[in-house]
Amino acid sequence: NSNDKRFPEGFLWGGAIAANQAEGAWNEDGKGPDISNVVTHGFTKPADEDIIEGKYYPSHEAIDFYHRYKEDIALFGEMGFNCFRTSIAWSRIFPNGDDAEPNEKGLQFYDDLFDEMLKYGMKPVVTISHYETPLHLFKKYGGWRNRKLIEFFTRYCETIFKRYKDKVKYWMTFNEINNMHTIPYAAGAIKFEEGENILQPIYQASHHMFVASSLAVKLCHQIIPDAKIGCMLSLSAVYPNTCHPDDVFGAYELRRRSLFYSDVHLRGYYPSYIKRIWEERDVHVHMEQGDEEIIRLYPADYLGFSYYRSTTYKAGMPILGHTGGIVGLENPYLKSTAWGWQIDPKGLRYVCNELYDRYQKPLFIVENGLGADDKVEEDGSIIDDYRIDYLNSHLREVREAIKDGVDIIGYTWWGPIDIVSAGTAEMKKRYGFIYVDKDNEGNGTLKRAKKKSFYWYKKIIETNGEIL
Ligand code: BG6
Repeated sequence: NSNDKRFPEGFLWGGAIAANQAEGAWNEDGKGPDISNVVTHGFTKPADEDIIEGKYYPSHEAIDFYHRYKEDIALFGEMGFNCFRTSIAWSRIFPNGDDAEPNEKGLQFYDDLFDEMLKYGMKPVVTISHYETPLHLFKKYGGWRNRKLIEFFTRYCETIFKRYKDKVKYWMTFNEINNMHTIPYAAGAIKFEEGENILQPIYQASHHMFVASSLAVKLCHQIIPDAKIGCMLSLSAVYPNTCHPDDVFGAYELRRRSLFYSDVHLRGYYPSYIKRIWEERDVHVHMEQGDEEIIRLYPADYLGFSYYRSTTYKAGMPILGHTGGIVGLENPYLKSTAWGWQIDPKGLRYVCNELYDRYQKPLFIVENGLGADDKVEEDGSIIDDYRIDYLNSHLREVREAIKDGVDIIGYTWWGPIDIVSAGTAEMKKRYGFIYVDKDNEGNGTLKRAKKKSFYWYKKIIETNGEIL
């Protein structure tokens, strides 16, 4: 029966971006600089301490979403999105992060943006902090290693919850918080001190963020009782490289470095296995009285996560907090993207089951997508069949996961319009169903064009997945 192929009624279909990768207008209308504004080659490379005159910073203009959002939202509306995920740039609201009063023009921008989404029947899904902590908080306080950030963050949360309480019912606190180990500057705005054991500030910052996240949950439920607020992790799959028990257990340990973050967020307490890790790595996390109670009382409502690929683990490889894809050996059963990310649709079903078995809380797939170097044909068309294949194969596995009994709220494709890459700051690494005319050096008209995948995603949504 064909109904079997349809996704559940009310399933959220949409796309996801982050303010810093799309908006541009980095210093307009009172916005302060944030940590993304000093990045030249992506978050995997060191950033400048300050903006250097004459240097090219991809986030400064990005795709100019700040001025063109009406056109872009209209295109998303044409595809039939019933939700859209973006982040609020913290430094539009509090330019330095530690200001006493918010910036009205920044608040107004998001009012207008959310209104525009709602006009098309799109539910806004908002990431509160997506790799864009105000730069001042990094420079003056060292980022999340400093407990003071809890206060600044909760002030920011309270401001936006009160302001957007009638418009935004889906929230997420920190984007890919488990990437603290691989890109601590992006995820935790952490400023390291020379020669220190970096795991110490990484776990200390994590603790502060757990407390801040729980306080955000508390505030959100008080101010917007009908809202859901989740945590967000990068959870691409991890497999053992062979059936050698050392590979199997190593893969398990590697996975747990990531799941540690969802364990605390969703279960509301520190898991027993972390004690040994902290002891062996000489980590001493300072907690204040009441912290653990806050974490216990206000767990996240759902688990938002990104899934792009899978990786393998071979015994002896370093175990940090990797999220899949960074340390692994090549999996011979899978193909890779031009950026070396291994394409693994079945892995998404595996991860959905893994996570639901562990938490029994709703899952929201808030990032999934394919970065590719698209070619514009002479007639202007862009035939991205590889993106359509990626989309179809992953969504079929999502459907299987739903049939397996997993509670999945929705699916937001990463970068439904081409944006600046977080990892490499390239424009060339395109995810969009909508092409943006701009290159890695910043040249281009910024004109938008529909790719072949645009029409296909529209059909998927129209039929609630039936055509898959
Ligand atoms: C996730 C991030 O890590 O992956 C996004 O939340 C990012 O910000 C996405 O853009 C894809 O990564 P990249 O490096 O290809 O942009």
